[in-house]
Amino acid sequence: MNEVMECIMNRRSVRSYNDELPTGEQLETIIKAGLYAASGMNDQPWYFAAVQQPQLVAQARELLGGDPFYGANTIIFAFVDPQAHTPMQSVSLALGNMMLAAESLGVCSCWINAPSKGMFDSQQGQAFAGQLGVPAGYRCAGSLAVGFTDQSIPAAKPRRAGTYKIFKCAQQYEN
Ligand SMILES: Cc1cc2nc3c(=O)[nH]c(=O)nc-3n(C[C@H](O)[C@H](O)[C@H](O)COP(=O)(O)O)c2cc1C
Repeated sequence: MNEVMECIMNRRSVRSYNDELPTGEQLETIIKAGLYAASGMNDQPWYFAAVQQPQLVAQARELLGGDPFYGANTIIFAFVDPQAHTPMQSVSLALGNMMLAAESLGVCSCWINAPSKGMFDSQQGQAFAGQLGVPAGYRCAGSLAVGFTDQSIPAAKPRRAGTYKIFKCAQQYEN
């Protein structure tokens, strides 16, 4: 299996984090992987804020009224321009790239949806978005918890059957 396929197969959503922080270089690489995702009409309609400063992480937890990040002390918030051609598709692809890049560096991750559900709508939420440098009008599409774990990485869940067909020239294959 080539290295890209290994990352795809080995990446899992990790739901327990220790205090170790990814380095700035690791975060740059992870974000770069997102920036190089394909996007509808190449409009690159995203903005990412990787947050490690303890007071910002604490503010995020306060706005959410809890910790949906499983103890991770590094969070990458993803914002998107809702006026873009294909906003959710493009930003989701970028987040997928970022999770694979994290895996390639030995950094764990998990998509956390909670921030996309109104966290930035209140006055305090908007002030927080301002602190993060979010462009006006952009909406939070989700976030990634990133970091390291003391737990063993869970095995991949079984794939659902009947979810693809390949129509080859000679034969039809089904799963
Ligand atoms: C759009 C999206 C939203 C998700 N939201 C959450 C979430 O809020 N919390 C969480 O623990 N996992 C979340 N996940 C992770 C999924 O539960 C996980 O990808 C799925 O169970 C398959 O496991 P795997 O990632 O280890 O292959 C999300 C994944 C996606 C793609």
